[in-house]
Amino acid sequence: MIILLLFVPLFIVALIKTLLTPKKLKNLDKKHVVVTGGSSGIGKHAAILAARKGANVTIIARNSDRLAAAKKEIEAACIGKDQLISAVSVDVSNRKAISNELDSIEDKVGPIYMLINCAGMAICGNVEDFTDKDINTLINANYLGCLYPIQNVVPKFKQRKEGIIVLTGSQVSLMGMYGYSIYSSCKFALRGLAESIHMELKPYNVFVTLSLPPDTDTPGFETENKTKPQETILISQAGGLYQADTVAEKLLQDALAGNFFSYVGFDSYVLTTLCVGMSPFTNLLEVMIQSVILGPLRLMAAYYTNSFEKIVHKCYLEKEKNK
Ligand SMILES: NC(=O)c1ccc[n+]([C@@H]2O[C@H](COP(=O)([O-])OP(=O)(O)OC[C@H]3O[C@@H](n4cnc5c(N)ncnc54)[C@H](OP(=O)(O)O)[C@@H]3O)[C@@H](O)[C@H]2O)c1
Repeated sequence: MIILLLFVPLFIVALIKTLLTPKKLKNLDKKHVVVTGGSSGIGKHAAILAARKGANVTIIARNSDRLAAAKKEIEAACIGKDQLISAVSVDVSNRKAISNELDSIEDKVGPIYMLINCAGMAICGNVEDFTDKDINTLINANYLGCLYPIQNVVPKFKQRKEGIIVLTGSQVSLMGMYGYSIYSSCKFALRGLAESIHMELKPYNVFVTLSLPPDTDTPGFETENKTKPQETILISQAGGLYQADTVAEKLLQDALAGNFFSYVGFDSYVLTTLCVGMSPFTNLLEVMIQSVILGPLRLMAAYYTNSFEKIVHKCYLEKEKNK
């Protein structure tokens, strides 16, 4: 009863505060936005959207031909004649090389205001089948390739007392899934990285967003599908497939609003709410709603976990039968 008496007024105050003070999106006009993985998929769409907001955009990836093609698309999205669009070919997991390239692009284009880490890739399979090469590729692209660019920009952001950092995780940053043992471990690591630097950088007016894309129709997703075990395909079907521009738009909007998590769709909302734990928050109303719905959501999650395990068991029985 006492809890209810405290909760209701607090809820009303939080509601009024949220309604009266809508979040102001940060402005990207003439700001320098760097997008790793900007030559394809979600990263390319994030770069296009940043160009549409008047930003000077630098995209980073390895393949020069794809970079050149993406650069043209981004240039076509510019709203002003003086916007600078650049493409840099470098492996984000090469610490020295990425750091040198980020320093040199700042000299040419200007101070980086926003770093969107989108470079990454998935390889699926059963845990015992991953080779050293696959494991290193996954850790390098998904974890170190995000950490190294962050390490380069953080001292500058701290000095300037402004900046935005986006890390692109995945729904499997929050839940393990059949076939994703190594990829998911890397994406879980990004959550730890994002939460830690969020706390470190908040006093410096530097914002951190962890994007959690669902299955998204991109060239990378097509490649990933070639390695998916049957179990992973069947479990993933429940979530549907989103378009890269939808995911990129939400990523940009959340980052510019200063939100910590960026997710798309109802399933992702449920998953993020379930796994919210000690994550940072920006909105008291959201915390109040989460504290009420977490219990029932746990029941819903148990239902899904059970149905996923049933799929895995059914596949196991079929494999045993066909032996
Ligand atoms: N698509 C999905 O369903 C989905 C779901 C959840 C999370 N995500 C995450 O979202 C991000 C973008 O995925 P996407 O589907 O848009 O992939 P994508 O279409 O394959 O694009 C990946 C980009 O990253 C670049 N890249 C990869 N490794 C790199 C490296 N070592 N150094 C520099 N650049 C590198 C690629 O270019 P180069 O190969 O030329 O270097 C490309 O520009 C990834 O982190 C992915 O894990 C995707």
